[in-house]
Amino acid sequence: MRKPIVAGNWKMNKTVAEAIELAAAIKRELGDCKDVDIVLCPPFTAIQAVSETITGSHVDLGAQNMHWEKSGAFTGEISAAMLRELYCHYVILGHSERRQYFGETDAIVNKKVKAALAANLKPIVCIGETLEEREAGRTEEVIETQVRGSLADLTPRDLVECILAYEPVWAIGTGKTATPEQAQEVHAFIRGLLRDIADEAVAQSVRIQYGGSMKPANARELMGQPDIDGGLIGGAALEARSFVEIVRGAI
Ligand code: 13P
Repeated sequence: MRKPIVAGNWKMNKTVAEAIELAAAIKRELGDCKDVDIVLCPPFTAIQAVSETITGSHVDLGAQNMHWEKSGAFTGEISAAMLRELYCHYVILGHSERRQYFGETDAIVNKKVKAALAANLKPIVCIGETLEEREAGRTEEVIETQVRGSLADLTPRDLVECILAYEPVWAIGTGKTATPEQAQEVHAFIRGLLRDIADEAVAQSVRIQYGGSMKPANARELMGQPDIDGGLIGGAALEARSFVEIVRGAI
């Protein structure tokens, strides 16, 4: 069975002081939780402080992005080794906001996924269609291109280290959640793609999160779907109470 994984993507929110407060509150409630992999993804500036705050608990740490090169003249960028040094074990890659505002393509995401794996970071690879694409009946085509492009050339051993996050762009920050049926349909399609790219064992072991206006009121039903293995939470992860409730909904 796949262990559920719930990650909080704090995006560009929380000062260091606020991040410590939120991480400490989550640790108090969930520090001993072994049934769900719990990952906090603060902004870069708060990673070290959150790392120290959650130390000794089962709550884990991730980043929201990284560069694919090891070091060098890449002003403003952060490498995988820099994240590992702060005890990050996960990194969100190819979030739709990175794709939309920073021009990230599947080819770029693929380079980042390979660099993350080489550094022993587990990539949380985001995919998802826009409203326009869904209404044009192109959801599966878009998802297939993103999955094949972002995961190109990975071995089965690499693939099982990856987490996928299906985040329909129209559901992010909008309050519009995909229905459990809509989400399950795409998750099953993604699992089918993994079967095609690799094999049944890989398809059965890769965890696929849902993201997009997930909150305590809808989390349990979404994560209760057979191919939904957790959540990638934005807005509701900025408050301990709602994040904790969502995590409890995964058990
Ligand atoms: P919201 O939960 O705010 O819709 O954001 C989802 C998301 O983008 C997580 O990566």
